[in-house]
Amino acid sequence: MKYKKWVSMLTIREKALMLTGKDFWHLNAIKRIGLPSIMLTDGPHGLRKTKKKEEGLGSYTVKSTCFPTASALACTWDRELMREIGTALAEECMQEKVSILLGPGVNIKRSPLCGRNFEYFSEDPLVAGELAAELINGVQEKNVGTSLKHFAANSTESRRMKCNSIVDERAMREIYLRAFEIAVKKAQPWTVMSAYNKINGTYCTENAHLQNHILREEWGFNGAVISDWMAVNDRVKALNAGLDIEMPSSGYSNVYKIAKAYRNNVVSPETLDTSVDRVMDIIHKSEPNLIKTNNFEYDKKAHHSLAKKAAEKSIVLLKNDENILPLKSDAKVAVVGSLAKEPIYQGFGSSRLNPNKVENAYDCLLDSFPDLVYAKGYSKNANTPDKALLEQAQTAAKNSDVVVIFVGSCDSDVCEGFDRVDMRLSNAQTAVIKAVCNVNRNVIVVVTGGSCVEMPWNTKVKAIVQTYLLGESGGAAIADVLCGKISPSGKLAETFPFSFEDTPAKDYYAPDEDDNLQYRESILVGYRYYEKAKVPVMFPFGHGLSYTRFNYTDLEVSARSISADDKLDVFVTVENAGYYDAEEIVQLYIVKGDTKVFRPEKELKGFERVELRAGEKKEVKITLDRSAFEYYSTRIGNWCVEDGIYSVYVGSSSADIRIAIDIAVNSSDGATREVSYGDYIPSYFNANVAQATDEEFETLLGFSLDSFKPNQETDRLTSDDTLLDTIGTPLGAKIENIIKNKLHDMFSGDEIMEKLVFDSIYNIPLKRFSAISKGVISEDMVDGFVYLLNSGDKKRSIGIIAKGITGVIKNIVPLVSGYFE
Ligand code: BGC
Repeated sequence: MKYKKWVSMLTIREKALMLTGKDFWHLNAIKRIGLPSIMLTDGPHGLRKTKKKEEGLGSYTVKSTCFPTASALACTWDRELMREIGTALAEECMQEKVSILLGPGVNIKRSPLCGRNFEYFSEDPLVAGELAAELINGVQEKNVGTSLKHFAANSTESRRMKCNSIVDERAMREIYLRAFEIAVKKAQPWTVMSAYNKINGTYCTENAHLQNHILREEWGFNGAVISDWMAVNDRVKALNAGLDIEMPSSGYSNVYKIAKAYRNNVVSPETLDTSVDRVMDIIHKSEPNLIKTNNFEYDKKAHHSLAKKAAEKSIVLLKNDENILPLKSDAKVAVVGSLAKEPIYQGFGSSRLNPNKVENAYDCLLDSFPDLVYAKGYSKNANTPDKALLEQAQTAAKNSDVVVIFVGSCDSDVCEGFDRVDMRLSNAQTAVIKAVCNVNRNVIVVVTGGSCVEMPWNTKVKAIVQTYLLGESGGAAIADVLCGKISPSGKLAETFPFSFEDTPAKDYYAPDEDDNLQYRESILVGYRYYEKAKVPVMFPFGHGLSYTRFNYTDLEVSARSISADDKLDVFVTVENAGYYDAEEIVQLYIVKGDTKVFRPEKELKGFERVELRAGEKKEVKITLDRSAFEYYSTRIGNWCVEDGIYSVYVGSSSADIRIAIDIAVNSSDGATREVSYGDYIPSYFNANVAQATDEEFETLLGFSLDSFKPNQETDRLTSDDTLLDTIGTPLGAKIENIIKNKLHDMFSGDEIMEKLVFDSIYNIPLKRFSAISKGVISEDMVDGFVYLLNSGDKKRSIGIIAKGITGVIKNIVPLVSGYFE
């Protein structure tokens, strides 16, 4: 322990207080020994700090720079840029006296439908982990902390506070934990945020395997684990399983529980003190900034320019037939689509911030095309096509040489707490594309959004520009790319399938009626699946065009034969063979042809971004270590390298490999002891995920799915259920009515806000209302309510509730009276 002496000066009550938030955004101060209260707030693509006196998420937040969200930043594959953004984020925190920024999020994009994909980087853990690590380093170099989130297997928003991700250990290690592992090992975030969901039946917050064994013992994490907001189910279990801090404050009720558990030897002195020590450490790390930065102000202009640079590098040119882009300077250009004027540049939820200044593409294009014609095309968030708007769009298109149509997400598609219902654009937007294509051959579509969309019109248009959510200066960046002031250089960090039906998790994406989420596809996520299963895709992982061409030559390796523990240097020469200064993202994939293990066709194991002036050549070096060849063997219980020949593929996208070389890797890891996987999980071996039987999945899991089926005989509500589960009961139906009416009045008919708030409240397990109410509602009271829901027996329920009220008093009195001093 680093602060043994200080920890020993604290009373049990003070120790327990240090492990619980003071309010929504602060940790408790222990003034007696001079420990200040520090602030933690969102993140991740800019600072979201509620103004003074606002509790909870608050609607008024201080102004800050809105950088592109992670889904966009991931397309830059640019480590240096991530570090620069990290530094800028830290400076904004310093000005606002924020000690820990809640981010980045490295959850894997398992399905395009996850409503929070806009906050996540990639379907590939290497891209996510490497970029997150640099962002963390950038922030933390300035003595501001981060919170790597949401740990782990949290790739669905529906029922997020209760659902159970059923994942096999290999998929956990290779896909869902890998990005966390990379970021932890390379950057040591001050905190890791434990997710809402369960994994294989245990809440992440109560999962000692995850928080203690893997995170701390195996990876060497030395920071504090903090709960996602309201993710704590059982405070004492969580503490014993390695969760240090509960956020936000749950009042005194959990402080009492910790103190009582300590008294009763349920929590050991070592567990309590170690957690307190970790919290002291992060407070101490924050102190220099709290003292030094009294008058610090960040440079708004410089941060806005950085946001623009990031947006430029994030833009992906998906298609450019006949080199229709960049726009010719003398062309008559029409812009169609309200998103050109009212861009969606960030998502909804805890990451939503109040930007310093927003630029839209339409205004920025006017600089180059003063005679730009504009037609609205559709109304934001509307689904039904509007005939008059369609006609206006056609008129504008008919009178122009080229039409740029801006389409993208509705607000509810990019929102924490919700998943998308499909992968489609609105009917109104699709109708505009169709109508314009009928009257003009030169159509360019600019797509905004948190994740990929189906593009059934893809062959009808000449160019497609994918922008994701580009932050406050995205409009200027889009205009510069369209006009050719810069060459696009982003590459997709996720595959764009033709349709949702093609995606590997299509049948198992949403929680089932028992709130189980079966990760049936195991490691076959994203391109790992499409390639193996030979499912054609619209745009492959790593794809992105440029206004120039790149040649790849002279692939060399430092050795043709290595042992598994050696490092291998790979060199390749890249030449910009066109007329634009540009940047290329060189991607390195490893292939193991002859394998006993079920493996993807190839896997990304290295990447570098390289800047090349027109005509320039550069040698790029990528160093591989043993992790490039490993797979996780559940039989052996460790990472293993198969002995034999591996191909090193280098290229411009996963589907555009330019050059390759074979090397031999010698290993005596025992991987050769593996029985051929083809014999006992044939569907996985053949990537026929849809055909995988329960037995095959259970073989991967190593346990039976029956363990997660509820006991049919006691089909009654429990305090682990949510208000959503109560709707079927007479009382639940009444409550639903009351809440819906209240929300309707509160938001004056704003349907999206009503739905947002309703769904948030209705997905909280009932038991947690005790913590949310800071103990005013005790868990006994919740039990009384549940009893009433199940039985309708008012008399008995009131008895239980009354017992709950005395319970609250009984809990609080010893704490305030100093019993635990
Ligand atoms: C989100 C976290 C966020 C926290 C605080 C939660 O609902 O899942 O990502 O940091 O709220 O706003």
